[in-house]
Parts: sequence; C-alpha cells; structure tokens
Amino acid sequence: MTSILMVCLGNICRSPLAHGILQSKLPEDHFYVDSAGTAAYHIGNTPDKRSITVARNNDIDISTQRARQFKISDFDAFDYIYAMDQSNYTNIISLARSNKDIEKVKLFLEVNDAISNKNVPDPYYGELSDFENVYALIDDTCDILSKFLID
Ligand code: 4NP
Repeated sequence: MTSILMVCLGNICRSPLAHGILQSKLPEDHFYVDSAGTAAYHIGNTPDKRSITVARNNDIDISTQRARQFKISDFDAFDYIYAMDQSNYTNIISLARSNKDIEKVKLFLEVNDAISNKNVPDPYYGELSDFENVYALIDDTCDILSKFLID
C-alpha cells in the first residue's frame, strides 16, 4: 500500500479537494489517500461548502471528510506528503525530525511542469469561481501525479 497525504492550512478548502480527486484516480486496493491542515482552526469540520459543491459538480463526494491537523507521526504513516503552497511546505518541514522526514515532503505543483507558480491559490476569501479554478488546477495535477504513482 502506498500512502499519500495532501496538506494545506485549514484542511477545509484545497487539501480536501486534492484528497478526493487523487483518490478517485487511484485503485483503492493499492493506494491510501488522506489530507490534513497545518493549522488547528477547523479540526473536526466538514470541508468548506464551496469545495463540496465544486467536487460534487464533478461527481466527487468529499462531504464525509473531517478536518484534522498535521501531526509528527504523519511522517511515519505516509510515503508522500504534498504541500499545497510554500507556506504549508515550510510549516511541515519545521516539524521534521530527520532528512528522511524532509525528503517525503514536496510541493504538490512541482509535478506539473505547465504551471510556473508553484502555489495552489488559497480560495478561502474568494468566490465560487476561485474554487472552480482551484479544482481545475488540482484535477490537472492529480492526472499527472496519479500516472507517476501508478508507474
Ligand atoms: P485551506 O484554506 O488551507 O485551503 O483549507 C483555508 C481555510 C481556512 C483558513 C485559511 C485558509 N482560515 O484562515 O481559517
């Protein structure tokens, strides 16, 4: 089993989308996908309604996800840890205990050569259209990532 953790700040907007979308592109008998936030603000909450809506419009149900905070044992539990932006990356790395921990952490958009800005924009203070744009960016990137993980 290969395990992948998607991480953003609140675990209610971006990483729940990345979690649900990547999960939909991988065979569940070989891959485990989860998500977390570096902050504690939204622990136990459902994803943002706007993320749930844009996912549902694409036949992906993320409504049963609940936010949790990234924890040090995630370095042991996961093979790959993907940060949605540079700030999330820095926050995760600040908790690393070893080079082995550090090597597991990547910027999610590093796999997508077509995108030069390596930060998934935070749509929290935006409109539904910002969530739709984030959905498309994450979906394109999960196409690339799923091929990389399956090969
Ligand atoms: P996320 O978005 O990191 O993509 O889940 C945010 C959610 C909540 C907050 C910021 C970003 N917040 O400040 O509460």
